[in-house]
Amino acid sequence: MAKRCTFSAKPRTWMAAFILMSALIPSSLKAQAGGEAPVRYLESQKVWVLTTRRSSYVMGVNAQNDLQTLYWGGRLESDHDIGSAHLQPSHASFDSPQTMTNMEYPGWGGMYYNEPCAKVTLADGDRDLVLKYDSYRINGNELEIRLKDIQYNLTVSLNYRVYPAEDVIRKQAVIENHTPQTVTVESAQAGVWTVPPGEGYRLTYLTGRWAGETQVIQEPVNPGKKVLESRRGNTSHQLNPWFAIDQTGEDGPATEQHGRVWFGALGWSGNWKLVVEDTPSAHQVRVTGGYNDFDFSWPLKPGQSLETPPFYGGYSGAGFGRASRLMHRLERNRILPDHAHPRLRPVLYNSWEATEFNVNEAGQKELAAKAAKLGVELFVMDDGWFGARNNDHAGLGDWTVNPRKFPNGLKPLIDYVNGLGMKFGLWFEPEMVNPDSNLYRRHPDWVMNFPGRPRTEARNQLVLNMARDDVREYVFNALDQVLAHNNIRYIKWDMNRHFAEPGWPEAPVAEQKEIWVKYVNNVYNIMDRLRARYPELEIESCSGGGGRLDLGVLKRVDEVWTSDNTEAFDRLRIQEGFSFAYAPKIMSAWVTDVPNLNRRSTPLKFRFLVAMQGSLGIGANLDRWTEAEMSQAASLVAYYKSVRAAVQMGNLYRLLSPRRGGVTANEYVSADGRQAVLFAFRHSQQLLRPAPTLYLEGLDDRAMYRIRPLDDKLAESQREVSGAYLRRHGLNFRLGGDYDSTSVTLERED
Ligand code: DGJ
Repeated sequence: MAKRCTFSAKPRTWMAAFILMSALIPSSLKAQAGGEAPVRYLESQKVWVLTTRRSSYVMGVNAQNDLQTLYWGGRLESDHDIGSAHLQPSHASFDSPQTMTNMEYPGWGGMYYNEPCAKVTLADGDRDLVLKYDSYRINGNELEIRLKDIQYNLTVSLNYRVYPAEDVIRKQAVIENHTPQTVTVESAQAGVWTVPPGEGYRLTYLTGRWAGETQVIQEPVNPGKKVLESRRGNTSHQLNPWFAIDQTGEDGPATEQHGRVWFGALGWSGNWKLVVEDTPSAHQVRVTGGYNDFDFSWPLKPGQSLETPPFYGGYSGAGFGRASRLMHRLERNRILPDHAHPRLRPVLYNSWEATEFNVNEAGQKELAAKAAKLGVELFVMDDGWFGARNNDHAGLGDWTVNPRKFPNGLKPLIDYVNGLGMKFGLWFEPEMVNPDSNLYRRHPDWVMNFPGRPRTEARNQLVLNMARDDVREYVFNALDQVLAHNNIRYIKWDMNRHFAEPGWPEAPVAEQKEIWVKYVNNVYNIMDRLRARYPELEIESCSGGGGRLDLGVLKRVDEVWTSDNTEAFDRLRIQEGFSFAYAPKIMSAWVTDVPNLNRRSTPLKFRFLVAMQGSLGIGANLDRWTEAEMSQAASLVAYYKSVRAAVQMGNLYRLLSPRRGGVTANEYVSADGRQAVLFAFRHSQQLLRPAPTLYLEGLDDRAMYRIRPLDDKLAESQREVSGAYLRRHGLNFRLGGDYDSTSVTLERED
């Protein structure tokens, strides 16, 4: 551990500490940061410089001891270019210098009017929190800066971690009460990301609903605040905790390939909040994020602390495409459970759309046999296998195998599935209970509730109060029992409703609002413990589709169910939005039967090619598929396997957006650059209108590529072309009619 430094330290002590710090920085990190140590303190300017491969983040301490954000953007190459911090003057008595200055972690106190990062009330009634710089410590790619209130021994540790290769920095704050009285925290934000002063900023974010998640919205940032949040207990389908800000320059707004894009995402699966603010006084755009302060209150007794979720932020000088690729790299290399040794996602079959609750040993075996013939590697039995679960009215909470459906337990089915060469996965909805269940009859007090008030049901179920440790232990043990006795390698962890009446009557009144945070921490706790006990176990995060998708849960799960809407044309938009923030590897995408939820019918090939752009699954009723469909599906699964490393681990280039025209196209280039795969979809053709040329990206101009078309849609006759040709001339396809689709792979020749 590097020693903590304060400015009062004698220069020689300081130098010694600096030498120690430098020694702690592995050379691999320096290389990733382009030769610079990822975290440096420049004493002459009193600034900290966080350096990634292509970006810099600079903070400094001014003469008043405020910690200021000085810069976030493209990499600064010379320390001489970096100035020091100073308060901006205010021009009127209506604005304070603090309000006009970019504060790195402002408390609500003094004369401060922008969105604060922390707000507290002390037991003696004092609500004024003015945080000043106290000390810092550098350890490799980590920096801790400690702030302290001007009067009370109330501190905030700001923890930074630099991810040089991903051009991302993580912020997280820990509020610590060293006073002798209780301090109630009313807002605890991880931090604020401040973009350079300027005009013409635009916000991109992801919104949606059940069956229509991750829709991309872009709008100008205007003075005032735009709040993106969840008050529903989980991440939510409605808004996702990710943002991007770009700036309209001389060439217009940022595009997929060009322009400055600042982006960020919270790692939290509970109530969260992002405040995108253009401060009216200073006209400064900033994004504050952390726990949602709505219905939030967290008493800290003397000696206690509260840690915020992590807030990741990154910079791309090459448009949204690179911004997404950096997020994908961050998730694959730093966040996901397998980040140290990334694995390819298996091709999955899920029984839900085929059987719904009507599962039994014979029926599942029949489906499994067919799935195996298609090349499926993981067979997942969905809802309906436990308790009295014949529909959604009963059984949730009773995690014992239904003896009528599986008289000999799950073992015969699992053995059969394993015998076919597939792993076995099982559905759970651990946080829920049906009132018609043994669990609820035994423990009606285990659901969140306000005594004497209604308990509002949704999908005939109530939410267990997972904040309670006894409930957490019940759920952990229930899952553990099933896993201990069966060879289960995959859990689909579902959550089919949001909170209502979030009461916790057994807790002291002052602590009852902690339910929002403790609930999530206990869900995380169960996932972490299960993974530790069963190292081969993988988890899918599902919340009626993509309701729990964020960098917090992604530390614990291997993939996410993108949407209950599996209709392929709708999926193009849902998947595009998903890909802005989340890696294709995480994006679970099934081929299902048609007509689907919205009564649209698309060809089997179209459905497969759409689903192949993520982690491919099949959710159709295979009992109804013809021989011809089975054989087409088998060859498409084989095709997917031949390109999935590029799709799942490579770099995504969104060539044509489904939001813009009649053709969608995406290209994935493998991490080593040896393979690229292109998917193109024509939604509906106007008579005789050709499909647009597709210009490829991410290839080496001078290299030659062998083209392997999936079908006869490629207009070009040559089968070997240069990277320059693919980039400049592009490829043309005979895509016509409705819902036509194609794919080609390009293999580098040398
Ligand atoms: C909602 C999920 O999104 C579906 O895939 C399925 O698992 C059902 N729940 C089961 O009840």
